[in-house]
Amino acid sequence: MAVLGVAGFTLEVPDMDAGLAFYRAAGLVADVSEDRATLVCPGGETPCVTLIRSSSRMRLHHVTLRADALDEMAVRVPAHGGKVVEAPAGFGADGLWVSDPHGVLFHLVELAPEPAPPAGPSFAINAPGAIVRVRQSAMAPSGNYPPARPRKLGHVALFTPDVLASVDFVTDAFGMALADRAQDVVAFCCARRSSDHHVLAFAKSPGTGLHHASFQVADPDEVGRAGQALANAAGRGHWGFGRHTIGSNFFHYIQDPWGSWFEYYSDMDYIDDHALWQPTVYGMEDAMANWGPPVPADFVHNYQVEAAQ
Ligand SMILES: [Fe+2]
Repeated sequence: MAVLGVAGFTLEVPDMDAGLAFYRAAGLVADVSEDRATLVCPGGETPCVTLIRSSSRMRLHHVTLRADALDEMAVRVPAHGGKVVEAPAGFGADGLWVSDPHGVLFHLVELAPEPAPPAGPSFAINAPGAIVRVRQSAMAPSGNYPPARPRKLGHVALFTPDVLASVDFVTDAFGMALADRAQDVVAFCCARRSSDHHVLAFAKSPGTGLHHASFQVADPDEVGRAGQALANAAGRGHWGFGRHTIGSNFFHYIQDPWGSWFEYYSDMDYIDDHALWQPTVYGMEDAMANWGPPVPADFVHNYQVEAAQ
């Protein structure tokens, strides 16, 4: 009947080694073949990132979404401005391949979600009037922590020339739902049932492309620690530690080798039934963050448009 979540995304990249180094530093585990690499979260089986060697530039090849009732979706897609297309060269014909009204390619697959990871220790905070942690340090010496361990790909944010049209398409054709938006500049879409606040987001740009992909970690501490480590390893831009208004998640964004962003997140709002959720249209003052460091000047710059010219 609808999209249930995001499974992965595939990039064409001009420098496979740079891509592998970045995503491995982020905590993903790679399986490399001649012309492509697939990366999973530690302990996971479904590739959440696929890199294809390209002779030209970095470009979003497609986004893979978990869905059910693909036959119904194949009827709705052309009725709402999209096209059902053949599988691209090098990819299987399983599932449903869809080109959206802006030419963005989606692969919809009937795929069980990765099993939920076992719950870790709760993030216990001593608050005024509520002491929950006694005779116990919250923090270990900084060298005692293991490397970042992304638990799952939570959402993908895409550039689009028309945010509201993209929302309409995934709502009408994919059976998703609008969670919240800020004017017509950014919008956040969820599955209708049992979903993170957003699994697909859209940001306004002159063209299409990948804005960021976001991976869940255990808690706000791991967001900060992992974000700082990856920012140091990647050596390009970063933005964080901070907290979004829309979705409520703690975040740290690190720029990938081609100018798009990788996000670690924790503590996102959860929508168990969209019929019981009231979407909010926020002002632009809440489009980016509730609090955090200054936003990098190129945070919403679409390098994929620039590279295509
Ligand atoms: Fe995000």
